[in-house]
Amino acid sequence: MTTQLSLRNASQNDSRLLWEWANDPIVRASAFNTEPIPWEDHENWFDKKLKDPNCFIYIAELSNEPIGQIRFNCDGQSANIDIHLAPEARGKGLGTNLLTSGIEKIFAESEINEIHSSVKVENAPSSKMFLKTGFSDLGKGIENEQEVYNYVLKKS
Ligand SMILES: CC(C)(COP(=O)(O)OP(=O)(O)OC[C@H]1O[C@@H](n2cnc3c(N)ncnc32)[C@H](O)[C@@H]1OP(=O)(O)O)[C@@H](O)C(=O)NCCC(=O)NCCS
Repeated sequence: MTTQLSLRNASQNDSRLLWEWANDPIVRASAFNTEPIPWEDHENWFDKKLKDPNCFIYIAELSNEPIGQIRFNCDGQSANIDIHLAPEARGKGLGTNLLTSGIEKIFAESEINEIHSSVKVENAPSSKMFLKTGFSDLGKGIENEQEVYNYVLKKS
């Protein structure tokens, strides 16, 4: 049986939690900029993102506990994804679950009809998650001077 995650919009109250998750070493390693994120930088960034009509940040909860986030940065009808789970929530299939739920939500509440993701080639769990969720593999590319797999999902 698929575990039932609930998704809600992120709010100012999630700022510290998102900062802690973003600074988890595995999350930093998965990003293009791998440096730790100072609190002040995060505060400014998060404030802007919450006000940005082209940014959707959802928090996933399991039994009322936050376990991960998914963020869509939109440009017209296309969006890029940022996704991560709390360290203790990884490796249980919850990433695939969160990705599926997040896509359902963004398709339902926006004009987005195409979602893109670039995954560092060494990030096998993330690549598996995108492929299992139905993304098409567009092949290898270079982003920020790093080798990535490019994935896309179109609204059917
Ligand atoms: C990426 C992430 C969201 C995936 O979520 P997850 O719940 O851990 O992944 P899932 O359990 O849904 O499944 C991932 C698949 O990868 C597999 N996997 C896990 N670790 C692996 C590894 N080290 N090597 C190869 N495959 C691995 C799992 O077995 C699973 O495959 P399966 O369903 O065929 O068994 C999560 O690991 C995470 O938060 N990582 C850090 C941030 C990150 O990398 N974000 C994505 C940036 S593009």
